[in-house]
Amino acid sequence: MITKKLEQFLEEEIQKLGYEEKVRVIVSNRRELCDYQCDDCFRLAKIYHKSPMEIGNRIVEAIQNSPKYAEYFKEVTFANPGFINMTLSDTLINQQVRCMMEKEKFGMEMPSKIDTYVLDYGGANIAKPLHVGHLRPAIVGESMKRIIAYMGHKTISDVHLGDYGLQIGQVIYGILKDQKQVEEITLEYLEDIYPKMSSLCKEDEFVKTECANITKDLQDGNLEYQLLFQKIKEVSGNDCKRLYDYLGVSFDLWNGESDSYPYIPATTEVLKNIIEVSEGAKIIPVSEVTDAKELPPLIYQKSNGAYLYATTDLATIYERMEKYHPDYILYVADSRQSLHFEQVFRACRKSGLTKNTKLEFLGLGTINGTDGKPFKTRSGTAPKLDALFEQIKGIFLSQKEDNKDMEEEDIDKIVNAILKFADLQNNRERDYIFDIRKFSNVVGKTGPYILYTFLRIQKILESVSLDSNISNHIYNEDDRKLRLHLLELEASLNSALKERLPSLLADYIYTLALLANTFYQNNRIQGLTDEVQKNDWLSLFNLTKNVLKEMLNLIIIDIPQFM
Ligand code: ARG
Repeated sequence: MITKKLEQFLEEEIQKLGYEEKVRVIVSNRRELCDYQCDDCFRLAKIYHKSPMEIGNRIVEAIQNSPKYAEYFKEVTFANPGFINMTLSDTLINQQVRCMMEKEKFGMEMPSKIDTYVLDYGGANIAKPLHVGHLRPAIVGESMKRIIAYMGHKTISDVHLGDYGLQIGQVIYGILKDQKQVEEITLEYLEDIYPKMSSLCKEDEFVKTECANITKDLQDGNLEYQLLFQKIKEVSGNDCKRLYDYLGVSFDLWNGESDSYPYIPATTEVLKNIIEVSEGAKIIPVSEVTDAKELPPLIYQKSNGAYLYATTDLATIYERMEKYHPDYILYVADSRQSLHFEQVFRACRKSGLTKNTKLEFLGLGTINGTDGKPFKTRSGTAPKLDALFEQIKGIFLSQKEDNKDMEEEDIDKIVNAILKFADLQNNRERDYIFDIRKFSNVVGKTGPYILYTFLRIQKILESVSLDSNISNHIYNEDDRKLRLHLLELEASLNSALKERLPSLLADYIYTLALLANTFYQNNRIQGLTDEVQKNDWLSLFNLTKNVLKEMLNLIIIDIPQFM
């Protein structure tokens, strides 16, 4: 990786000056001044009791006198108050570009220690239809998983279905009331009965208590209810699978809250020292002295013996620890669940349930409509996913007459690209406005724009044969910018991984598409007569295409045949 190479070089040089320190090189935040920078003069100044300026100037002088200087740099300067600014030589840039062209995963360095990550995302609730609110946990989680795996770590993904909540009791109540047989439980029936029962419970206290009792009996193993539950889970689970499939979202494990029940006794055993009894319920106090606002205790078991959401999460952690010994467990869910996860994580730390495993909550903002309020249908409910896909399809097709002739499969890929690029370009924690019209456009920061760019590059490369050896030239500024951005791939991926932000990768992809387009517009590749230059540029395009393709896969975007 280029930054590593520069860091090593700098460390050798400063060592000669007597400073035994590691340094960090980052992409310049003022591109008009330089390509890369090092800000460590401030730190070194403190350690060696000198001014950052004195240290910086000494380092720059040493670099300029190094035998490697000409090979590495066009220019290295000191900038007040303490920055070392580096502009790379064409030779170094090309050496790195060549390495990206030749090596697997673009020469990316793989970790010396492979970590195991359990990723908990999706989180669909059985018996309730998937709606727009389920998109982000699925998309962000899947993309995070792909990034982690690409960077050489081991991943285990679990959908963690919400399958043991009150909604099951409600649906079972409805089934019994309607005297339905098991084989009559269809998707249509579930879609009809759940909203009915849910509103009935809001009006009728008696029914609500009944449904809660059924839920409790189900959890306690009532055989009749278990039979109905299995069927509900099968029917509803298959529909979830179909929708996740459409989105390219997949899971290693299709476990749900209910699967954690067998682990509750062992979990209780581990937690017993921190469980307290309060008004008949079992609770776990989790507040800490440093809390600005006191955190309420986690409720582990209600006074009627029922277990709750937090219990199932703790028991699931127990199971995951036993089976997978993960280094990390990542939860991707709505930000509004942050209190719940904080309580669960604290209980784990306090009891030693997780030992060295790191638990992280990746909170998500809301998808809003163009009115700035949570995305709704005309009737005021959150749109179901099928309906949303159809709506996007409709808007995309209406944009251009030609779109109507496209293959169904390609249209689906574009619907996915519209949706995912709209979502993943936003920092996951932030709310965003999903303006379908805007995001369906082939211009702007959109999925279609990136796909279009990709297909265009692919077209240019059709039936050309490339000589794998590129020259050491860089021909102009557009060309240089494109090459430098390609070199930043590894740093972008590393930040996306470290910050748990697929949006950083989405930004990288967009900028790459933009630079490739600008380059193409300003430079006539086809008309070139200089064979060396032509081969250089086409090779550069080929690398851009390959990077785009692999990176789009990490943000779950498939490439259509035509557009
Ligand atoms: N089913 C939950 C919901 O819809 C999300 C599950 C998140 N994962 C977890 N392990 N709690 O709110």
